[in-house]
Amino acid sequence: MSSIHLRRASPDDAAAYARLMADEEVFSQLLQLPFPDASAWRKRLETPREAGQADIDLVAELDGEVVGQAALFSMGAAVRRRHAMGLGIGVAKPAQRRGVGNALIGALTDYADRWAGVLRIELTVWVDNEPAQQLYRKFGFEVEGRLLAWGLRGGRYVDAIAMARLHPASPALAARGGSPAAPVDRGSGDSRFPVTPDARA
Ligand SMILES: CC(C)(COP(=O)(O)OP(=O)(O)OC[C@H]1O[C@@H](n2cnc3c(N)ncnc32)[C@H](O)[C@@H]1OP(=O)(O)O)[C@@H](O)C(=O)NCCC(=O)NCCS
Repeated sequence: MSSIHLRRASPDDAAAYARLMADEEVFSQLLQLPFPDASAWRKRLETPREAGQADIDLVAELDGEVVGQAALFSMGAAVRRRHAMGLGIGVAKPAQRRGVGNALIGALTDYADRWAGVLRIELTVWVDNEPAQQLYRKFGFEVEGRLLAWGLRGGRYVDAIAMARLHPASPALAARGGSPAAPVDRGSGDSRFPVTPDARA
């Protein structure tokens, strides 16, 4: 049985991305356009991530061939949205239903939860894309609402579903050795920062 190998994408994967996105069964489910351009993919994969960005592009290989890709990407520059990232995924038709989607979403959610400090992963999926919705539900994504005529797909404006997954158990502080530190006393004079008796205990 073939095993799935995941790795970070590199600019040399551009041709594989273009091949994957040339299949209407794949690109129609995403926001890609027909006639994908390998050089545009190369440019995107070559663009260096700014320091401090958690964005990641993963590819999945079966028998040494790239058959799927998935990404987590930041949702813009707003400081107060730093806890959220978007997610996208595509698996080549012949490789579907062989666990590639599971492996990619499993790796991205693990990366988001344990390494990148992501609280919220969000995405949109066409209302009739049941396979993808099932996959997302399996990994804890919930439906947030329906977006009317959200995008153009093959000559029709189609509704999409907004889904999101919150971190199942937000990271806690690691245990510290020695005696517990004394609680910080912020005083009680500043009403902007009320300190309840419980918080001081
Ligand atoms: C959705 C997609 C990524 C699933 O990838 P995959 O490699 O076929 O998925 P897997 O074989 O790992 O299956 C994972 C889970 O997805 C769901 N799933 C996948 N195909 C399904 C199908 N045809 N019907 C129902 N559920 C399906 C199931 O929950 C499955 O879990 P299970 O194996 O325990 O039943 C793939 O079909 C795809 O790339 N489609 C085209 C692009 C796309 O729709 N991208 C998402 C846009 S929002």
